[in-house]
Amino acid sequence: MVIDWIRRKQQGGELTAEEIRELTEGFTRGDVPDYQMAALLMAIYFKGLTAAEGKAFLRALISSGERQDLSGIPGIKVDKHSTGGVGDKVSLVVAPVVSSLGIPVPMISGRALGHTGGTLDKLESIPGFRTKLSAREFRRILADVGCVLVGQSDSLVPADRRLYALRDVTSTVKIPGLIAASILSKKIAEGANGLVLDVKIGEGGFLPNEEEAVELAKLLVAWAEENGLHTVALGTDMETPLGHAAGNAPEVIESLKILKGEEPDARLATLCELQGAMMIWLGGKANDLRVARQLYREAVVSGKAIQKMQEIAHAQGAAGDVFENFEQNVRPKKKAAITASRSGILARIHAQKIGWGLVDLGAGRKKASDPVDPTAGIYFVAREGDTVKAGDALAEVVWSALNDAAESLARLREAFVVSDEPATERPLVFFVCDRVGCRTVRQSEELFV
Ligand code: URA
Repeated sequence: MVIDWIRRKQQGGELTAEEIRELTEGFTRGDVPDYQMAALLMAIYFKGLTAAEGKAFLRALISSGERQDLSGIPGIKVDKHSTGGVGDKVSLVVAPVVSSLGIPVPMISGRALGHTGGTLDKLESIPGFRTKLSAREFRRILADVGCVLVGQSDSLVPADRRLYALRDVTSTVKIPGLIAASILSKKIAEGANGLVLDVKIGEGGFLPNEEEAVELAKLLVAWAEENGLHTVALGTDMETPLGHAAGNAPEVIESLKILKGEEPDARLATLCELQGAMMIWLGGKANDLRVARQLYREAVVSGKAIQKMQEIAHAQGAAGDVFENFEQNVRPKKKAAITASRSGILARIHAQKIGWGLVDLGAGRKKASDPVDPTAGIYFVAREGDTVKAGDALAEVVWSALNDAAESLARLREAFVVSDEPATERPLVFFVCDRVGCRTVRQSEELFV
């Protein structure tokens, strides 16, 4: 049967909703082997999915586990998700900020996918932090703490857990219908009422250009709204890594600094404030984004946001003082500098090359069973547009597990382009879509008026 479905998709045919349900159930039970699912995914990668097939995958993923009823927990439950990027740690920042304002944040996230990082792997670099919780624990921690940060499990979208892991290592992530089904299945199953989406545009994500990103954003908003999930989707730049660090523990370290109100990277700070403000607005705590941004800033300055992060980590298994000595506890065993080979302007840091270089270094997986080195990552010393001299440090690479990192370092080095030409300025935010439609944005400040 599965072989007929593979053949049909190879020939550009369509699967019925019933077939997709049967396939997903069989795959989740382990009756459909990975090799057949991988072949089917590759056929879909080349031939595409119809909207009906995409929606059937969404329904099948949701019903593979328990759909959470959070009506017993007061308040509008709000979540956020990114389609995936390099250095994108916004979830680690906005979840505690928003929940510290009394808005419940139930968040099911994913692991590293392809060359992009994953919130779960970042959280698991925190010693003791458990991301695999039962549905009952998920609801209890949300009710007690106001935020819960987990991964798919046997009860929470198990089919997405298996499919996501397989797509990661078979280079079949970039299928818009499956990206939408994967993201929304988690958000609908977890019981959220509101959702902020960040659709990443550029080589560091899965959508290379604005047109494809708008199409995916429209699909995500339409399918979310059909399922009662009030959704706003932003299209934002992912040509270059976001923030000062990429890698699991390095991104947690950077997020903790932002939560403590320390000076963050300007583009990262803007994206955190924008997405956080949208969540606060969706959560009903502010009538407009300007007021919501003010609440966001107060939560950071007052110390409530970092305190909430500590509460979440503690509730999910980490020691109460886990963040006090966090940097020392995840100290990498090895480090190497990337230096400028010539003088000039740092015109480009290629996000995708950084992403694959980090996978090589051990921050992501080449096979589903690969362990992840939580300490592996990169700190950017120079940023696009900086003038540098030959020999100046551009970045520091850190890791612990890999014995010979020469190839990874070479790959990471290739990501940096020093030239005589100035760096090309790119907008941070390209568009915003909601149930009314999509509009082009070029200055993120436009969204706060
Ligand atoms: N995030 C997800 O949860 N799924 C995808 O397919 C891509 C990004």
